[in-house]
Amino acid sequence: MRVDVITIFPEMFDAPMSTSIVGIARQREALEFHVHDLRDWTDDPHRTTDDSPYGGGPGMVMKPEPVFRAVHDVAALSPQDDYTIFLTPVGQTFTQSIAEDLAQRERIVLVCGRYEGFDERTYELADLRLSVGDYVLSGGELPAMLVVDAMARLLPGVLGHDASAAEESFTMGLLEYPQYTRPADFQGRPVPDILRSGDHARIAAWRREQAIRNTARHRPDMLAESSLTEDERVIAEDALREDAQRDD
Ligand SMILES: C[S@@+](CC[C@H](N)C(=O)[O-])C[C@H]1O[C@@H](n2cnc3c(N)ncnc32)[C@H](O)[C@@H]1O
Repeated sequence: MRVDVITIFPEMFDAPMSTSIVGIARQREALEFHVHDLRDWTDDPHRTTDDSPYGGGPGMVMKPEPVFRAVHDVAALSPQDDYTIFLTPVGQTFTQSIAEDLAQRERIVLVCGRYEGFDERTYELADLRLSVGDYVLSGGELPAMLVVDAMARLLPGVLGHDASAAEESFTMGLLEYPQYTRPADFQGRPVPDILRSGDHARIAAWRREQAIRNTARHRPDMLAESSLTEDERVIAEDALREDAQRDD
């Protein structure tokens, strides 16, 4: 997969896009990553990318001309069809299922806003407007990095163990089960016996139940969408009841 980012702060991507899983994805050539300075598409000596808003109001708006030129030129850098994503709070909320969909694509262009955001007319270049959550950041760079990180770990051959991504939170409509490592007893807090039993079927059943309980406790809103058996619904309802009693 090839990812291109357009930003006025290309240097922000240096360490996060070369470290850990994203770095491994690049080393293993599962991910080809390029970052472009939007100012290279400006046409004035000050390399200006913003201007004041029509209608007045605080702050500045991203000028449309450099964004249009940059998106067209960057798209032409590679023969694969590009899927262009504008990072903006006024967009669809990024989820694991969007990450899974994006990780199937051959080519993605991420466009990062700054100031008070994009001129509305630039959105005609967007295949998708993506928000990373209901809060406002200073720029689209951190959101773009989140998107690349979430996609990179899904690319084939990137995670050490193929099942790692398949069992993670959100992948099956549930949060993950609790995890433990050595020591078996940490300052009087033992690891659940079942995880040391070697009985893989019972461990899998315990993990599934704990995933349901975790979801009921921390993200009950997700339960409506998760496919649970009748017995599992009872487990979820028990967990919700226990939680309500704990709060009383
Ligand atoms: C200060 S924000 C602009 C916020 C805009 N005035 C608004 O109220 O929606 C500047 C840029 O940061 C990025 N940004 C901020 N919060 C974001 C979020 N939650 N998701 C995705 N991008 C975000 C966008 O690229 C945006 O253009």
